[in-house]
Amino acid sequence: MEKKNIDWSNLGFGYIQTDKRFVSNYKDGAWDEGVLTEDATVVINECAGVLQYAQTIFEGMKAYTTKDGKIVVFRPDLNAARMADSARRLEMPVYPEDKFVEAIAKTVEANAAYVPPYGSGASLYLRPYMFGSNPVIGVKPADEYQFRVFATPVGPYFKGGAKPLTLKVSDYDRAAPCGTGHIKAGLNYAMSLHAIVTAHEEGYDENMYLDAATRTKVEETGGANFLFITKDNKVVTPKSDSILPSITRRSLMYVAKEYLGLEVEEREVFIDEVKDFAECGLCGTAAVISPVGKIVNHGEEISFPSGMEKMGPTIQKLYDTLTGIQMGTIEAPEGWIKVIC
Ligand code: PLP
Ligand code: COI
Repeated sequence: MEKKNIDWSNLGFGYIQTDKRFVSNYKDGAWDEGVLTEDATVVINECAGVLQYAQTIFEGMKAYTTKDGKIVVFRPDLNAARMADSARRLEMPVYPEDKFVEAIAKTVEANAAYVPPYGSGASLYLRPYMFGSNPVIGVKPADEYQFRVFATPVGPYFKGGAKPLTLKVSDYDRAAPCGTGHIKAGLNYAMSLHAIVTAHEEGYDENMYLDAATRTKVEETGGANFLFITKDNKVVTPKSDSILPSITRRSLMYVAKEYLGLEVEEREVFIDEVKDFAECGLCGTAAVISPVGKIVNHGEEISFPSGMEKMGPTIQKLYDTLTGIQMGTIEAPEGWIKVIC
């Protein structure tokens, strides 16, 4: 298979239309078989549930080319399970988890020419999503849904790649207690847009959201979970029912413990203790691990000893080990890597 003529090493995190996408429709209480199509457009009624009441959920995952030339996907079963949780919370039908993984495999295989080569630093981002497609005018769930998966080759999420980021402690809340912060619903991202545009205008790379109830505890950013490294090299990550259970974060905590022999802790993290950490990073499919150099909390500047030039040493080790597992240079734990072709 001949790869597309793309400048892989200079890709940003954007949308490039690829050849095929997977589409399946839910009607009369059942999902159809689903097909791959070349049609990148979606045609729905003007009153579709997604357009009126934002009944939509999504996932994000990546396909990589390994050192020995295989195309693989990282832990798609966990994305399938999380999407099922998201669907239940928004009263949507679950797309069967085994079918989800099959749909991912079909989409990757059909777009193999767009999977960036090993060593390019890029990957094929996969975006499974689902939305209410039939007319809904009273506030209630739709009866018909569409599940789709498209693929787009991407580079780093943050401009500047591995340069440490500067974050702002946001005055906006991302998720309420007992709300939808723990699922991947489009509505969580719509309500973060004003906050992120404002932060960018003020010169910040991202927002740090605090817990909405007390504004004392670290939650997450708009698109990634936090990892902190203590001065005695322990890996700490915030525990909260209103953050997205990041698959990257869960994998990194395992890697820290089992591969690097580090102590790990998932617990409440107070904003007041952040100044005492040695390193900070954002983790997620898109973010991978992006180092944080500075956090500004209403005039108070918290600068990590790791500085603004490069990743701190422990975040770097976590990054190298995780990406090594994903690219096939480090042996993966059982079941983490799905070989597509
Ligand atoms: N938190 C939010 C709000 C996200 O959108 C994402 C991205 O998926 C993450 C965390 C990271 O999750 P994952 O590692 O599963 O991609
Ligand atoms: C991902 O990491 O896959 C996400 O969905 C985050 C988003 C901000 C791009």
